[in-house]
Amino acid sequence: MKQRGVAVWFTGFSGAGKSTIADALTEKLKTEGYQLEVLDGDEIRENLTKDLGFSKEDRDTNIRRIGFVAKLLARNGVIVLVPVISPYRAIREEMRANIDNFLEVFVNAPLSVCEDRDVKGLYKQVRAGKIKQFTGIDDPYEPPANPEIECRTDLEELSESVDKIFNKLKELEYIS
Ligand code: PPS
Repeated sequence: MKQRGVAVWFTGFSGAGKSTIADALTEKLKTEGYQLEVLDGDEIRENLTKDLGFSKEDRDTNIRRIGFVAKLLARNGVIVLVPVISPYRAIREEMRANIDNFLEVFVNAPLSVCEDRDVKGLYKQVRAGKIKQFTGIDDPYEPPANPEIECRTDLEELSESVDKIFNKLKELEYIS
């Protein structure tokens, strides 16, 4: 059982399934004895980036700080899972350029599906005008042009999404 450090970057709408896939992948990798860390958007915003909101500038700052931590971990051999909306293509490309080993996972479900799921009740609040600058509604989301992996969470089972990423990690010899 061997591993190389890598940042697995999950991008997608709120409710697309980023954290769900990252959590399930965590279980699978941990069961097999791999060392990993998850830098989850909500958790990071509660701790490392509590001072930031959702303007473009703040989102980019959020991503740069998270990317910095991911880089440190990945270069020390850790598999880092990063489920964050990261709506802007340019900042994700900046992460790709800065982090030596970087895999982009597009967690893709139509906005209408994410809104129907409304796991955290946020879309309801958005429609009621209580939350502004919400990704996909009144704030942009720029889908990746060439992600290493795409998970269509409205069309595939969770286990399929997890296996796709696991198999890609194997194929690229981040895990063996
Ligand atoms: S970003 O754009 O990458 O900096 O966002 P991220 O750090 O991943 O935080 C997204 C979570 O914050 C909640 N939330 C919002 N998301 C998008 N737009 C607005 N305006 C917003 N306000 C609060 C929401 O719970 C996001 O979590 P997920 O897990 O994606 O649903």
